[in-house]
Amino acid sequence: MEASSNGLRITERSNPVTQNIDTSAPQDIINQISQCEQEIFQGWKEYENIFSERILQSLDQVVDRATEIITNPEKSCIVMSGCGTSGRLAFFVSRDINKFLQRELGQIPCCDYLIAGGDVALLKSTEAQEDDPILGSAILDQLCAGKDKVLYIGITCGLSAAYIAGQIDYCLHHLDKVFPVLIGFNPLNQARDHPIEKWDQTCASVFSKLNEAQSVGKAAILNPVIGPEPITGSSRMKGGTATKVLLDIIFQVSLYRVISSKTEGAVHNVRGIIKVLLELYFKVMQSRPREWQLELADVITAAGKSLNNDGHIYYLGKDQLGMLGLIDASECPPTFGSDFQDVRGFIQGGFSVWGNHEGDLGLGSKHDIDIQSFKKNILPQLSDRDSIILICSSKDQGNDIDSLCEDIQKTSAVMVCVEDERTFQKSAVIDGSNLELYLQIPWTQFEEPLGIFPPQLQKQIRKNLLQICVKRTLNMISTAAHVLKGKVYQNYMIDLTLSNNKLFHRGISIMVKLLGVTEDLATVAILRAIYSTDHLTEGQRDGPISQHIASASRTPKVLPVTILLLSIENCTIEEALQTLAKYPAIRTAFHTLSKV
Ligand code: F6P
Repeated sequence: MEASSNGLRITERSNPVTQNIDTSAPQDIINQISQCEQEIFQGWKEYENIFSERILQSLDQVVDRATEIITNPEKSCIVMSGCGTSGRLAFFVSRDINKFLQRELGQIPCCDYLIAGGDVALLKSTEAQEDDPILGSAILDQLCAGKDKVLYIGITCGLSAAYIAGQIDYCLHHLDKVFPVLIGFNPLNQARDHPIEKWDQTCASVFSKLNEAQSVGKAAILNPVIGPEPITGSSRMKGGTATKVLLDIIFQVSLYRVISSKTEGAVHNVRGIIKVLLELYFKVMQSRPREWQLELADVITAAGKSLNNDGHIYYLGKDQLGMLGLIDASECPPTFGSDFQDVRGFIQGGFSVWGNHEGDLGLGSKHDIDIQSFKKNILPQLSDRDSIILICSSKDQGNDIDSLCEDIQKTSAVMVCVEDERTFQKSAVIDGSNLELYLQIPWTQFEEPLGIFPPQLQKQIRKNLLQICVKRTLNMISTAAHVLKGKVYQNYMIDLTLSNNKLFHRGISIMVKLLGVTEDLATVAILRAIYSTDHLTEGQRDGPISQHIASASRTPKVLPVTILLLSIENCTIEEALQTLAKYPAIRTAFHTLSKV
């Protein structure tokens, strides 16, 4: 496989639009992130984009397969699988579609999900499992047992997860019953080609075989190029949004076909309908009314203050919208080196309504996700250092969350209400401590295009579009709040946890890029930081990457320490740690020291 021009795959490159995000004010941060997001639809450079013929053709094919399975769900299933946010979105979408099938069509649910690390990874990042193709393959094998037909959708934004490569390899050996689909956002010749421990293949070699299967109609690859992420490598942002757009559209069109076959007969012009939907999503992503920007900037300022003052951001919500809060929160520790408690999500009903395979994960109150647990354990301790973000739809009135509003208003915490319709009483905005954020979707523009769909599907599409708005808004809040805390340098995450193979290599390339050192120097400094030593042993220097990441996962601030080791002459680990204690914001430490 060819390497890219500058040696970095597109999803690992720095986006020129956000190069100064670390020194930008909230409103500029919003503008820069929004501008980057347009690339999901506008594409990037000369590469194939989401409207390209081959991508549309692949979408057609996947829709055909999904329609078949939804029509004949007995002994069939659609399984979506991924690592980190990709797996969480697989869970999110499968849960949503299963509910729709049961509620609107009275059908048995036929969607399922897999996530590297199992259900605990829905809540907490467990990246090391992403490196295991054999485990990935074994788990898929179990899920396919007893099924005659499976549509497998493997998601890896960077075309980089060994877990997914293992599953695609499994599919390639079972093409008689499994139709594999790969979702990712790099050109195929940039699939990750690093050796995988205890395996004789790489992502690149497996995906290249998948490409051969695609050429004879036995697989599909959906890999529109959407440009680099606003925060370098943070695929939860654009990658996650583009994943959701593709999955939503696959199901919306398949369900349209299933419903129409029962009433009006076959749907012609499937391609045209896919395009209509893509345009709808594009319009929603383009919409950023002035009022929304101003309100969001206030929310970001409040959330940034909370993190800067050792306070917290809490997302509270219901059902699918509430789950987006959990998904957003889960990615903050690995991305920004933050504590699990810094940004947390809660949903009404907790694990009992989550619908995950393993049910209550029994992780104790520090990881509970039920709003009741928030009420019991957190509400009494809220202070003006905390920001509470209520994620509400206009239909959520009169539930637990509504009554929580009154309780929260009695505290000194900042309360933000993110809603789809402006229902929050302006009079409730007291002393600037209560904010309102209205997600203005220009529905009137959509009435005509939505009119072609049956009513229950129109409702679902509207819900899906709202989810996209909530996802991008929460991503902006948590990202910008961490930017304001100094957790980003230029647009690089510099307190990233090096908890898997990809992230270990990402850490090295960030050091090379930021400090202009060689890869060898960067690697040695990273290993010193990982093992907290000034003198590496042979076993530490030459150990396998899995050993380095096991140690890195237990060691905080590996990259900040590495930055100091590389920037100050003869810096010892002890000195680096002392400096960090003095300047907790790495950006400040780095700035101060680079001037010395
Ligand atoms: O390894 C962690 C991570 O980077 C997460 O942040 C992300 O959600 C996940 O990997 C998924 O990456 P990909 O979709 O490229 O496999």
